[in-house]
Amino acid sequence: MKYQYSTKVPVSNTDPVGDLLRAAANPDIISFAGGLPAPELFPVEQVQEAANQVFQEKGMTALQYGSSKGTPELIKVVADRLAIDGIQADTEHIMISTGSQQVIDLTGKLFLNEGDTVIVEKPTYLCALDVFKSYGANLVSVEMDEDGMKMDQLEKALTDHPETKLLYTIPSFQNPTGRTMSLERRKKLALLAAEYDFIVLEDNPYGAVRFEGTPLPAIKSFDQTGHVIYTSTFSKILAPGLRLGWVVAPKELIEKYMVMKQSADLHSDVLSQYIVAKFFENNDIESHVAKITALYKERKDLMVDAIVKYFPKTVTYSRPEGGMFIWIEVPGITDTQKLSDYCIKNDVAFVPGEPFYCDEIVPGTFRLNYSNMSPEQIDIGMKRLGEAIEKILTEG
Ligand SMILES: Cc1ncc(COP(=O)(O)O)c(C=O)c1O
Repeated sequence: MKYQYSTKVPVSNTDPVGDLLRAAANPDIISFAGGLPAPELFPVEQVQEAANQVFQEKGMTALQYGSSKGTPELIKVVADRLAIDGIQADTEHIMISTGSQQVIDLTGKLFLNEGDTVIVEKPTYLCALDVFKSYGANLVSVEMDEDGMKMDQLEKALTDHPETKLLYTIPSFQNPTGRTMSLERRKKLALLAAEYDFIVLEDNPYGAVRFEGTPLPAIKSFDQTGHVIYTSTFSKILAPGLRLGWVVAPKELIEKYMVMKQSADLHSDVLSQYIVAKFFENNDIESHVAKITALYKERKDLMVDAIVKYFPKTVTYSRPEGGMFIWIEVPGITDTQKLSDYCIKNDVAFVPGEPFYCDEIVPGTFRLNYSNMSPEQIDIGMKRLGEAIEKILTEG
């Protein structure tokens, strides 16, 4: 049978990142490749306790179909948390989603027709690029520096593409670079969205995981005109396996999101929603997040120390104040895949930069994750990586 796939399906049968992550799952390999939170901090007992209570108190409701908007209990939890990001919204502006990944997909479904222009950061989260590509978007990337997307370059992109419909940004501890958009640029972006009339999808999965520096308000908090849609998730502050996130948008849009969600999955898992709401009722989330940030800071510091100790002096690296990633650029490396293949053979893994770019690729770039490996693994793995870089640079 020759299957006739839709144009949404990638033409290529290869999945280099998937292959890499499968290879890196080998326990002999020290993997800085994935984007996994530290599982030893999952509050297993507290989640189990919350689950037991949910089954006792409302087992039948928790196992029944639910509303596509989400359970009122969890929506209330989200509404209470929005103040942390300076967002003023009430429950009618919130919908619970199956992770923030679903919000990216539903946003594509809601706004994008074939050929619509979407502006993204260069580089950006590869699963968002996959979503926008699947909706046939014309992707335009805008360069970043340590303060996030460059606003002069964005204005140039908007002048070249006044038809831009959507801009996707991860303003805090970005995936893959770990960089954070400055306060001035957040304000400017909200103004530009109103001026050029495009939607901003502000994806903030990592913002709560800040271990240094001063917290910054969300871009959404500067939105006077309904141009900014905000999404975040329980994946990094609680557990990704629960698959729960949320979207904050004007009421009219939340109603549209609910229609789109109905055809995607009817609603997010009701049982998980009750368990998470109960977890929040029973526990102090801030002290739990403090444990996560303390551990990630320790691991980030170790990784930065190891870069200084083991990598050539020409290497540049980002300095994340939170989140899970460091972005590396090695001048002189033209084939990052070759370095990656060599590293896998030597039992260490990272994600090469290529898949994070939608157009021109910056060679010699790659992403390192520090949240998921122990201090010993970080030291040994970074030493191996440093030796591999030296070898590939010498051999060419
Ligand atoms: C930038 C970004 N957005 C969205 C997601 C999806 O997260 P989830 O669907 O678990 O909320 C991730 C996952 O790592 C991410 O890095």
